[in-house]
Amino acid sequence: MTSQVRGVQLARLLGQWHALPGRRRSPDYVALAAAVRGLLADARLPLGIRLPAERELAEALRISRTTVTAAYRELRETGHLASRRGAGSWTMLPGTHRVASTGLWTPLDDREMIDLGVAALAAPPQLVPAARAAAEDLPRYLGGAGYHPTGIIELREAVARGYTERGLATSPEQIMVTSGTQHALDLVLRLALSPGGAVLVESPTYPNALAALAARRARITTHGLSDDGWDADLLLGSLRQTRPKLAYVIPEFHNPTGHLMAADLRERLVGAAHAAGTDLVVDESFVDLPLDGTPLPPPVAVFDRHSRVISIGGMSKPYWGGLRIGWVRASAPQVQRLAAARVGVDMASPVLDQLVAVHLLTQAPTIVAARRAQLAAQRDALVAALADRLPEWRVTVPRGGVTLWAELDGPISSALARAAEEVGVRLAPGPRFGLDGTLERFLRLPFTLPATELVEAVGRLAAVRYDLDRAGRPQWREPSVIA
Ligand SMILES: Cc1ncc(COP(=O)(O)O)c(C=O)c1O
Repeated sequence: MTSQVRGVQLARLLGQWHALPGRRRSPDYVALAAAVRGLLADARLPLGIRLPAERELAEALRISRTTVTAAYRELRETGHLASRRGAGSWTMLPGTHRVASTGLWTPLDDREMIDLGVAALAAPPQLVPAARAAAEDLPRYLGGAGYHPTGIIELREAVARGYTERGLATSPEQIMVTSGTQHALDLVLRLALSPGGAVLVESPTYPNALAALAARRARITTHGLSDDGWDADLLLGSLRQTRPKLAYVIPEFHNPTGHLMAADLRERLVGAAHAAGTDLVVDESFVDLPLDGTPLPPPVAVFDRHSRVISIGGMSKPYWGGLRIGWVRASAPQVQRLAAARVGVDMASPVLDQLVAVHLLTQAPTIVAARRAQLAAQRDALVAALADRLPEWRVTVPRGGVTLWAELDGPISSALARAAEEVGVRLAPGPRFGLDGTLERFLRLPFTLPATELVEAVGRLAAVRYDLDRAGRPQWREPSVIA
């Protein structure tokens, strides 16, 4: 079934399309086509969706139908629109672009591109030795069928120990190993949310969490974070008022803003969630990465007396994303239910990868200390380069995690991302972290690449920023995975 975007909806998504930087001398139809391509590139307009009839869009945008006709013709010529007489026009992409099964994009390997769209580090040097040691361990498992829906016991024990050391007594029966944190979220949503269920998320938030929620057809409401993070009264108030089935939060070094939720709000949040009948999904992806010796508040689940809190986390941020190991911490019965749900999805995670994770976790203090030192140095280099080259941008220095959330000197994030592709910098513009095309004044910048690359990227962004008004018509480029 093809879904359709109505004229008024597309007009809202297009926003200030006629006033976008870089279009001063181009005709309206070119600017309109470029803006539609931009929406496709940002995944704010899905592929295969039917665009409004020309007359309907012209009315919604209050422009002439000829302009819309010319824009649609241009989109057909660039391979972004397919039309059939009498049936309408659908969004598509030029032939060489591939869509990943998640609906996000598989990037081409482009070695010249500085990729600031992905907030994850390269693997640590301990990875290959850990993989060799894991292969040595494998024979212990080869006598069985190899399916462990909740994960191999060694890894569940190691993860449970990590929680207990953080002050949250946890047994291996409360842990289920998954293929990454994203998989953990998807499984939890399958279990805890029926289609159309109401969910409260932070705004901005992690885009792939929004994708997982969209896949469950969740009805999403948002809590807007401010410069200082969560506003306790507003957050608890919206829980009380909307009583969502579920709330998804990232309390440790929130992606993208880097905020850390204070202990007292954690406690009040759990209480309010219980009173509202809301399950809390707590994404602890960045909990291992406080910088500058920042002390960590207790895990949110410490305050949970009613099995309201489901914690998810994984190896990707402190260790390596390519390992695809994550987990859920919940009550033992919830873990059993998740494991049963999982059998209909992927049965179990690979044993070998779990063994690699076990070996890495035995070296956690060494590996994580090195990661923190590396991230702090890279963050400082990025902040210094921004202060030097783009002093109009406002940056709050995060005390942990891997990203900062810059406030730009105008609503230019998507235009900047498009222009940056031209100079070999891939960005995740602000609107990717929200729902409704807002957040154009913001840009997430990860500090996961080496300092030299970050400084080079900022130099290129500064050049592009000041050129934006004079830039020519943006060329179509491959959209990117955001992580
Ligand atoms: C908040 C958050 N949750 C989940 C993920 C996905 O993690 P994984 O690679 O473990 O699936 C990320 C990755 O960027 C993230 O930032």
